[in-house]
Amino acid sequence: MTAPGASPAGPADGRAQPLLQVERLTKHFAVERGLFRKARLLRAVDDVSLHVYPGETLGLVGESGCGKTTLGRTVLRLLDPTHGRIVFDGHDITDATERALRPLRRRMQIVFQDPYSSLNPRMTVRDIVAEGIRVHGLAKDRAELDARVESLLERVGLRRDALQRYPHEFSGGQRQRIGIARALAVSPELIVCDEPLSALDVSIQAQIVNLLLELQEQDRIAFLFISHDLEVVEYMSRRIAVMYLGRIVETAAARELWERRHHPYTRALLSAVPVPDPARKRLRILLEGDPPSPLEPPNGCAFHPRCPRSEPGRCDRDTPPLEELAPGSRHRVACFHPFE
Ligand SMILES: Nc1ncnc2c1ncn2[C@@H]1O[C@H](COP(=O)(O)OP(=O)(O)O)[C@@H](O)[C@H]1O
Ligand SMILES: [Mg+2]
Repeated sequence: MTAPGASPAGPADGRAQPLLQVERLTKHFAVERGLFRKARLLRAVDDVSLHVYPGETLGLVGESGCGKTTLGRTVLRLLDPTHGRIVFDGHDITDATERALRPLRRRMQIVFQDPYSSLNPRMTVRDIVAEGIRVHGLAKDRAELDARVESLLERVGLRRDALQRYPHEFSGGQRQRIGIARALAVSPELIVCDEPLSALDVSIQAQIVNLLLELQEQDRIAFLFISHDLEVVEYMSRRIAVMYLGRIVETAAARELWERRHHPYTRALLSAVPVPDPARKRLRILLEGDPPSPLEPPNGCAFHPRCPRSEPGRCDRDTPPLEELAPGSRHRVACFHPFE
């Protein structure tokens, strides 16, 4: 099997129109601080632009708390954006009402990080998987509904006797398969996969990765694949966006990023992972400390307090724009002193 990341950047099928287009998206949360103090603004997502073509995977990677989940949920309009624009298959859904969103909801689904809390414990697997089909009226009668649910279970690798059982009777990996069947049930064109592996044993992770890739190929589904693990994202994705404190700091084709990581943060992201290549190892820098709070982001480049290449008077003052490394390049970096 070859990873889709091995293919070049650009539209998956030559079609010019992205399935999902996000422009300068910002999501702030007002964080209350008691009765008499003003709420503070938490900038969870700040000025993010991205696009996903039909059938391709855009990987979104960054440390915990950098805004990945917020971004994923906002593009699906499970959260309301503060600024910016979200276009799904040509429909501007930025301010769409729930009623206007309803027909589009079927086409964009989510697989959650935690298969333990994302399945209703009082519903059988059959009802969990059937719910979307029923809500969207995708089966004409009970027999068709049952047949669909059964074939979905088979596709995600669950046995038929799972139908009448409850989520607590399954392992983490099996529950994630149920969550995937639920998303798949309504034939979506886009699935936001929000760290679908991080609650699973390492031994199970590869199975779920391969299942997702197989389903994607069969149904030509686009993924926004979220993870804190750069290597998983590189394996899964055609293109990658690296996030730090609410912003995209580097974006490139997966293969390109594998060969050349220009942003000091992207390099640091790998420092905890053992890699056999000593040449790569030498280039590593260590990421120390926690990311700063999005309630009090540092001035200038948000990464500068942790960055070995930070230039006083510049990186701590100005915010580097996300710019092409060379004119026409799809490799873009937000850094005043990127690695060559
Ligand atoms: N509903 C919310 N209200 C206030 N702050 C939130 C809310 N959801 C997320 N945050 C904050 O937004 C930031 C980004 O969170 P999140 O999107 O969950 O990051 P990630 O998925 O990358 O771990 C964090 O600082 C988090 O505490
Ligand atoms: Mg998250």
